[in-house]
Order: sequence, then structure tokens, then C-alpha cells
Amino acid sequence: MSLSKETIDKIRETADVVEVVGDYVTLKKRGQSHIANCPFHNEKTPSFNVSASKGIYKCFGCGKAGDSIQFVMDIEGLGYVEALKHLAKKYGIAFEETAPTAEEVVQRNERESLYIVLNHAKNYYQEILHENEEGKAIGLSYFKERGFSEDTIKKFELGYSLDAWEAFTKDALVKQYSLDLLEKAGLSIKREQTEVGKSSHYDRFRGRVIFPIHNVSGRVIAFGARILKTEKTQPKYINSPETEVYHKSQILYGIAQARNAIRNEDNCYLVEGYTDVISLHQAGVENVVASSGTSLTDEQIKLISRYSHNITVLYDGDNAGIKASLRGIDMILEAGLDVNVVLFPDGDDPDSYVKKIGAPSFREYIKAQKQDFITFKTKLFLDDAAQDPIKKAGIIKDIVESIAKIPDGIKRAVLFQQCSKLLQIDEQVLIAESNKIQITKNKKRIEEPQILTESESAIADYLDKNNETPMNELELVKLQERELIRLLVNFGNEQMEGDVRFIDYLLQEVADHEFKHPLYSRMLTFIQSEAINGNSIDTSIFIAHSDSEIRNEAIGMITSKYEASSNWEKFQIVVPTEKDNLFQSVFTSIMRLKWRSIRDMIELNMQNLLEPLEDAEVQKFQHIHIQLKSAEKEVAAVLGIVIGK
Ligand code: UTP
Ligand code: MN
Repeated sequence: MSLSKETIDKIRETADVVEVVGDYVTLKKRGQSHIANCPFHNEKTPSFNVSASKGIYKCFGCGKAGDSIQFVMDIEGLGYVEALKHLAKKYGIAFEETAPTAEEVVQRNERESLYIVLNHAKNYYQEILHENEEGKAIGLSYFKERGFSEDTIKKFELGYSLDAWEAFTKDALVKQYSLDLLEKAGLSIKREQTEVGKSSHYDRFRGRVIFPIHNVSGRVIAFGARILKTEKTQPKYINSPETEVYHKSQILYGIAQARNAIRNEDNCYLVEGYTDVISLHQAGVENVVASSGTSLTDEQIKLISRYSHNITVLYDGDNAGIKASLRGIDMILEAGLDVNVVLFPDGDDPDSYVKKIGAPSFREYIKAQKQDFITFKTKLFLDDAAQDPIKKAGIIKDIVESIAKIPDGIKRAVLFQQCSKLLQIDEQVLIAESNKIQITKNKKRIEEPQILTESESAIADYLDKNNETPMNELELVKLQERELIRLLVNFGNEQMEGDVRFIDYLLQEVADHEFKHPLYSRMLTFIQSEAINGNSIDTSIFIAHSDSEIRNEAIGMITSKYEASSNWEKFQIVVPTEKDNLFQSVFTSIMRLKWRSIRDMIELNMQNLLEPLEDAEVQKFQHIHIQLKSAEKEVAAVLGIVIGK
């Protein structure tokens, strides 16, 4: 079972690290290298580096590193030799492999054995479909009737299980697969009571067409089996149980066949059923996967996000379908991905609809009907609610709830604008409503400090007024600086608990922080000198300032606050005034500023690491990276806790 040195060398030469890693994660080119979010640990900013010239990958977050073979070992959970074979198969490199003897089957580790027996079962069911009389007459003709072509049937490795109790199990035993293994793979089921003349196990799948379920790298890990009779007492589909290699919440049907197309199209269609995936492929839409009847999970979304950050949900137009899409939308948004929706006429799923209107019209339909989630939700509810203000309020709340789930503050700000136009509601109202949701939500949450606080809504407000769309963390640092100055300008004179002057508290907190933006830096210096001289920080000292830039900026800061609160009043939305929450507001702002700066520094440091470097320098930057990461975590934790108060 060993590979020759020549074969190993050939695999090493051929298996390009960027290509191999690229099969699992979305890589972005940065200078000499590629970067991505690390597939081995959870992160929002990429620390995972791949260097094509060196042939290696390294994650500066969790420390995983190696070459393309090591990567396959880590991500697929394979041994060295298995990883080599995996790559050999990928690149079509020939290697001698003898059929496993019974002894060898036992010796291999359990996972590997499961893969082998599952692959055997797939071959078996395929053979029955194509060679056996019953298979051909019942299974194959069923698929043909459904309009599946020969190529499609082969591509998805469809099969048929005979309508008999022990056909598969008996055959597998003859071929030396152990009962224990067959049972662990979910293929054979142990009888409750052993009866004379009957064997101890029977087949799970009987008299059904078989849909093999593959993992990302194309190995069979489970089966779905559809009934062909119209027996009401039997479930339509029987699926493999959870096994060592099949965790249904972590896999999507069709991912192996779809992943390249998803990456190329930068979009993933999400459908409900096996047959939807297959029919769409046949219609030339290959970037499609199914959640297979179970409700969508976070892990499944994460799986898609390796290949694209855009998901288009294709669900039935019936109530259940709409409900499923609504739930899916919120989960996808929460994961930070973009989501669109295509609905089909009531009673049709993608499979039946493509059959109805044909492939070209179908492809046009999904392009034309694709709508973003706000439009989708608005249309869905607004028709019968246009005349009913209470219903309308409900819809607005619902949409705001969805937007509030989006982790990215800038994206949220943009969507509030869009939503405000569409629903003809003042943007500030939407933002205020979102604030309330965020605050309750963050009570439970410690991880990432993402929240539309009053400070952030002020930022959104500022963005709106200045028609600016900041692109990067640096720009956000600037906005945070502005926010701190805004708090100082408006509330400089306030007292905090324990007779502490607000201004002293804030100035002390920002003392070691160098403001990057020249105007805000100047304003800070001015405020500092006033405070040191014991002057009170009244809005008037800014309005009367000799520096016209400072004057104008301060006036903008004072008025935007006034406008926001009048809108809230107008719509009778009760928000605590900023003054009431001053401490929280400023503390959050300071922490957020620190957090942003740290992220900013991480980004810059990462850039350094991408340059050609001496080893000592690499070590230095890696050390800095680790320190920054832990600082980021600390601040994030503090933010999570404080926000909750
Ligand atoms: P559907 O009932 O929509 O089936 O269930 P379908 O895929 O459209 O099949 P056809 O067109 O009637 O042949 C959607 C998915 O839900 C899962 C399956 O994954 C199915 O593809 N399901 C459904 C089950 O797992 N068990 C069931 O009993 C029914
Ligand atoms: Mn269907």
C-alpha cells in the first residue's frame, strides 16, 4: 500500500498549494501571496496566508502551517499516504493500488473504512441501476421519466436499491465487509430480535432510488433514498443516519459538484431538494446546493462562504417555502453574507419549474426574478398592508430586525438608506429601531463588538449627510475620532457619577491615543488645553472659534444631534436621550476606537508580513501579530460586556 518515490515526487511537483487550498477557501491575492479567512479556526479578518512561490500556507492566527499535502491531511482528516492519494486522484496521477484485503480493511482507521464501504455501496447501487433487471425497469426508467439524462445520472452517481430485505448486506458480507462496519456506515440495520432463518441485519434502503451525498472533495459520505410507490405509511425519503463521516448539519447536497461553479460565478443558489440540484445542473446552472429538507444551519452557510459570499435562495412560493426563505435570509445576513431571493409560483419547486418552462427560460427567470432581501420582504408584506399603518409598522420592524443582524456597520448604513427610500420612512427612525434591537441582542453576546450604538447611528447619520462611503478601517478610525470629539463638544460640561467631570474622564482615556485625522487631532488639542486651564467646555467656545474648520465641524456636530432627536419625537419612538446614557456612549466609543485602531494595526502588520523578509523580521512581525490579536480580543470582550449593560 505504499507509493513509489517517483509518484510522491510527481504529486509534490503537481499539487500547487494555491490551487489545493483554493478548493476549500476563497483566496484573495495580496502582493506576492494569497490571503483568506483561516479554515481551521473562526475569524473575521484573514490571518491565513498562502505563498505560491514557497509552496506553503501559514495561519498567523492559529499557527497551522505546511505544504499542500499537509493541508489536505489537516482539512480532510487524512493520513499522509491517503492525502497523497487524494491529490494523485485530483491531478489524475496514476498510482498502483491493490484491492484491500479483509485484513487491511480492518487495519485502516475507522473513518477511512467508512469511506471505503460507502464508496462500495455507491458502486453497488449504481451497478444495480444500470445492470440489474429490476434496477433498469424500475429505477432507471423512473429517472428517465423525470427527464434526467444519462450524463446527469452518471454525474450524480445515482443508483437503485432492490426491493428486498437483505440484498445489499448479504452481497457486502460476501465481499468481506464487516457487519460492524456496514452498521456504522448506516447501510445495514441490526434486527431487534434474531429469528431462525433470518440474518442479524437488514438493508436500510430497499426498493428506492439512491442519491449519494458527497463531501466537499467528492467522497461519498451518505445516501438519500426516494420511494417510488405511493405508500402513505412510508416516508418519501430515507436518509443515512449521522455517522462518523456524515454530519448532516455540516454538509450540503451537491457541494462537490458545485464548488468550482460557485467560485466562478461568485454566487451560490440554495435550493431545498436533491432533485432541484440535479435538475438545475442539467439546465446548465451548476452553482447550486441543497440543504436537503433540514433547515439551514450556520455550518452550512460557513461551508458556502469558502467559495462565495453571495447566496441566492431559490424556494417554493408556498407558505412553507416563504417561511424557510425568511429564516434563511436572517441566518445568512447574520453570517455576514449577502442574500438574494427568487421565489417560484405556488406549487412549483425549482425542479418542476425548470421542467415546465425549459432551461433557457428558467435561467432567464432566475436572473429577472432575483431580488434583494429588503425588496423581497417589502413586496411580500406590503401588498396587503399598504393601507394598514399597524401592519406597516410590523413590516418595518421585521426588515429592521434583518438589517440589524448584519455584522458590518457600513453595510447596515447603506441598507438603511435603501430601506428608507423604499418604505418612505425616515432613516433615523430605522436606525433608532435597530439600536433597540442591537442593545437587547448584545446583552447575550460577548464575541464581536458589533452594535449600532447611538454613537454609530451618529456615524451613519454623518455618512449620510456627507455622502461618504468609507472603504476601510482607517476611514472608520477617523469616524470614531469624530464621534469622540462630538461627544466632547456636546457634553463637555456634564458631570458623571462620583463627581467626575466627563471631560476629564474622556481626555484621560484618550491620552495615549494619537488621533490620526488632522482636524480632530487639532480639536482634541484645543479641548485639552481648555480643560487644563480649567475652562468649561461649552458649545459656544467652538462656535466662536477662530479656526473656521473647527467652527464648521463643531456646528455640524451640534446640529446633527438636534435633528436626530426631533425625528425620533416626530415618530413617537422612545429612545433614551444620549445624555442619559452618556457614560455608556462614551465608554463604548473609546473602546470601539481602540478596537478599530488595533484592527487597523493588524491589517498593516499583515501587509508587512507579505513582503519578502528575513527570518528575524518574520518572527518580529509574527510576535506583534499575536500581541495585537490578544489585545483585540480583550477590547472585544470588554465591549461585549459593556454594551450589554
Ligand atoms: P421535497 O418533498 O420537496 O422533495 O423535499 P423533492 O426533492 O422535491 O423530491 P420530488 O421532486 O418530490 O421527487 C425536499 C427535500 O427534503 C428532504 C429531501 O432532501 C428532499 O430532497 N426530505 C423530504 C427528506 O429528507 N425526507 C422526506 O421524507 C422528505
Ligand atoms: Mn420536487
